[in-house]
Amino acid sequence: MHNFDTVNSLFVQRFGRTPIYEIKACGRINIIGEHTDYNLGYVLPAAIDKYIYFVGAPNGLDHCRVYAADIDEYDTIPLGNPLQKSARLWINYLTGILDQYQRQGAQLEGLDVVFGGNLPLGSGMSSSAALETGFATLAKTAYGIDIEKPEIARLAQRSSHQFVGVPCGIMDQFASLMGREKQLVLLDCRSLTYEYIPCDLGNYEIVLINSKVSHNLSDSAYEARVEECAKGVEVLQKTYPEVKSLRDATQEMVKAEEAALGPIVYRRCLYVTSENERLLQVCDALRNGRVEEVGPLLFETHAGLRDLYEVSCEEVDFLVNFAKEHPGVIGSRIMGGGFGGCSINLVDRSQSQAFIESIQEAYLTAHGRSAEAYQVNIVDGTDLVKSELLSS
Ligand code: GLA
Repeated sequence: MHNFDTVNSLFVQRFGRTPIYEIKACGRINIIGEHTDYNLGYVLPAAIDKYIYFVGAPNGLDHCRVYAADIDEYDTIPLGNPLQKSARLWINYLTGILDQYQRQGAQLEGLDVVFGGNLPLGSGMSSSAALETGFATLAKTAYGIDIEKPEIARLAQRSSHQFVGVPCGIMDQFASLMGREKQLVLLDCRSLTYEYIPCDLGNYEIVLINSKVSHNLSDSAYEARVEECAKGVEVLQKTYPEVKSLRDATQEMVKAEEAALGPIVYRRCLYVTSENERLLQVCDALRNGRVEEVGPLLFETHAGLRDLYEVSCEEVDFLVNFAKEHPGVIGSRIMGGGFGGCSINLVDRSQSQAFIESIQEAYLTAHGRSAEAYQVNIVDGTDLVKSELLSS
């Protein structure tokens, strides 16, 4: 676990001088709206106080030198044009950002960087988006690039697609950057218009339970879902030409075309169309102080992700089933891309300690793994917190 103090001293140890820039990059939660972003629907995420801390400075060399403190790995990025992909996934997330800046005409210069934090990797809290947004903010500052946060989110998503090879939506990068303290970001992934909804949960709080089953979005399963949805649009368009993405489809349309869609694509489309509807119901409930109504919708999302979208796993199903039976838990579901990672739970504050203790014990007994619990706070998104150059 790292913080600014530890990454700063690692920087001094490794590079023999103090860093100039400090950036705090956020992980994210998502209340509801899973696998809707690349279908151009809505999402309802927020930035959380799980961070990757970046420190850096120009090095006057023709390559970047980067130390990933959490995993104790060091690597370099030679600044060629074009930039080269590495066999190491984490460095590609950084190089991809430089590649985007270079394509926009930026003159790349060598940077020394150390990063590390308390954002668990591969847990559905978007550590990879935090890598992208943190490094993009560092590089933009170092190179003096004038670019606003929503544009950085788009650039980071393009980098994931074009350089890293992950066909992700825009939710993670957008939430990591645009998050605001105590607010949820209601993002329309087609127009990229957004509004903030106060995350007023009354007596309830958000508790994440990490199954410690690590997922990896480069896995072909995520890509397969993206393709199945595209196939769904292709089929639906024949009858409903107005359907340009699953965002435009309704459950009725999907049901009417069940035979043409075929069983797998049918299930995917049914999930996505119902998830968009649930999200709008959640927003309405939150805006009107009816938090209790959110819980059952989270359980419904979980069932959809498990049975229709088929992106859950045995371990997280266990966590959600256990939560359902526990007093004080009004909603629970798998969060993020799926295939492992965290469940997000809406828990009565007076019961959350008891819930955490009992779910950890039960999970250890059933699956032989220790689940970690996080009572997260919603905070302002990724930003530069210090620049000696700017302040002098
Ligand atoms: C991952 C992707 C996001 C989104 C979620 C599922 O986190 O990076 O774009 O598709 O999965 O909602």
